[in-house]
Amino acid sequence: MSSSIFIRPALESDLSSIVHLDATSNPHPWGESLIIDALQTRKSWVVKSNENEDGGILGWLTASQVFDQSELEQILVNVSARRQGLAKKLMTAWLDDSEKIGVTEYLLEVRESNLSAINLYESLGFEQVGLRKNYYQTEQGHEAACLFTLTI
Ligand SMILES: CC(C)(COP(=O)(O)OP(=O)(O)OC[C@H]1O[C@@H](n2cnc3c(N)ncnc32)[C@H](O)[C@@H]1OP(=O)(O)O)[C@@H](O)C(=O)NCCC(=O)NCCS
Repeated sequence: MSSSIFIRPALESDLSSIVHLDATSNPHPWGESLIIDALQTRKSWVVKSNENEDGGILGWLTASQVFDQSELEQILVNVSARRQGLAKKLMTAWLDDSEKIGVTEYLLEVRESNLSAINLYESLGFEQVGLRKNYYQTEQGHEAACLFTLTI
C-alpha cells in the first residue's frame, strides 16, 4: 500500500492518540480533560497517515463555532512531521468545512513569540487585528497574545 496522508473529523476514539500528541508535541500541553471537552463540545479534525497502523495521529485542530464565527482553539502537529504542510492541510479543512455551514469570520490568538504559527496563519490570509499585552505566562514573565482574523 502506498503511503498517503488524509484528514477526517476527529472521533472520540482518537482521544488517547491526541493526548499522546499533546503530551509529546505541545510546548504548552492541554492535558486529557481539556481534550475530552474539546472532542465533546467543539469541532475537531485530525491528520493521519495510512502507514500509522497503531492509530497514531500526526496532527489535530480544534475550533469552536458560534453562528457565523469560528475560533481556532488549538492546532498541533507531531514534532517529527513538521514543515510538510500538515498544519496547512488541517487549517484548510477547518476553513472549507466551516464555510460550507455558513461561517464567514475566523478568529484566533497566538503567542507573540510563536513565529511558526504566525507565518502559517498569515500564509492563509489571516490579518492581525489586535494585541493583548502580558496575556500569556512565560518562564521569564509574560508575553502578548496577537489576535488574528480572516473574513471571507
Ligand atoms: C505551528 C505548527 C502547527 C505548524 O505545523 P507544520 O505542519 O509544521 O506547518 P506547515 O508545514 O503546514 O507550514 C505551513 C507554513 O507555516 C509556516 N511555518 C511553519 N513552521 C514554521 C517554522 N518553523 N518557521 C517558520 N515558518 C513556519 C511557513 O509559512 C509554512 O510554509 P512553508 O513550509 O511553505 O514555508 C507546528 O509548528 C506546531 O504544532 N507547533 C506547536 C503547537 C503550536 O504552537 N500551535 C499553535 C498554537 S496558536
